Amino acid sequence: MTLRKHILNNLSDGEFHSGQEMADDLQVTRTAIWKTIKSFAELEIDLETHPKKGYRLLHGFDFLDESKIKLGMSPQALAHLSQLEILDTIDSTNQHLLSQKTRTSGQVCLAEQQTNGRGRRGREWVSPYGTSIYLSTSWNFPSGASELAGLSLAVGVSIINALKKCGINNLGLKWPNDIVYDFKKLAGILIEMSGDVMGPCNAVIGVGVNVILPETATHKISQEAIDLSTITNKKLLRNNIVAELLNELLIALPKFQDEGLSHFIPEWNNFDVLKDGEVFIHHGDKKIEGKAVGIDPQGRLLVELDNQVKAFNSGDVSVRSKTN
Ligand code: BTN
Repeated sequence: MTLRKHILNNLSDGEFHSGQEMADDLQVTRTAIWKTIKSFAELEIDLETHPKKGYRLLHGFDFLDESKIKLGMSPQALAHLSQLEILDTIDSTNQHLLSQKTRTSGQVCLAEQQTNGRGRRGREWVSPYGTSIYLSTSWNFPSGASELAGLSLAVGVSIINALKKCGINNLGLKWPNDIVYDFKKLAGILIEMSGDVMGPCNAVIGVGVNVILPETATHKISQEAIDLSTITNKKLLRNNIVAELLNELLIALPKFQDEGLSHFIPEWNNFDVLKDGEVFIHHGDKKIEGKAVGIDPQGRLLVELDNQVKAFNSGDVSVRSKTN
């Protein structure tokens, strides 16, 4: 274990610990402790320093832990898990899986931090150290990529279901797959495909969930964002949330493989926050106004424009609600 991890472990209870106490405990100098703690600022770890009491992590700390995650998983989901890899720092968990020559269904990778977290539409996914969830999983589909148009919507439904099991309610889906609370973004999905349009293909499904967003990170996000700690006002354990995410995802993916989007549409409709609201559709330089009226069987957004209903692909347009 690195000194950084040892110190974070010592401070994980969210209580004050003095530099001397940690130096004695870890058998290093106080300067070594101080230098490591100074580097926490770069990691956007919220730390309070007190001249007498020492150091305290404002939100405590819980490392991602393979055994705790597996303990929270159902036997059915565990049966689909082919690998669970937990990394400390990586550019992007999606990239990490994509760079492997072969990928199996149910391969999962998590990281404490991403240095180049990727969002949809070429955006950055701000990924500070140890406070949120950055998860990627791979799935092989016998059908071609053209059949997987609605996959990200199905994944959105499973994320909401997982968060519900953690006691988080009133979440919604903003088409195609932003998980929102009060129209603020809580979680996002990025699916990257490789393989054939018509033949077998592999999907890397990346999920980012804001558990605690340090203030420094919030400033870097262009959209209005929210985190679970703000919604619940409680200390949530990332390992429990990851377990529930995998419980849902690893069942939803084979379900999607067998039945496509149709199985998920009724639930998706329940979570649709745009339904019956006025929206702006951005298509290249064009901006169209209309009323969102749901999705079609392929997961395209249906919009009423001049008394006609038109379907839009998620790859072609971006949507804003007029009222929020
Ligand atoms: C979005 O823009 O809404 C999609 C965000 C997806 C972020 C996740 S975090 C884990 C995985 N690795 C990445 O680089 N991106 C996805």
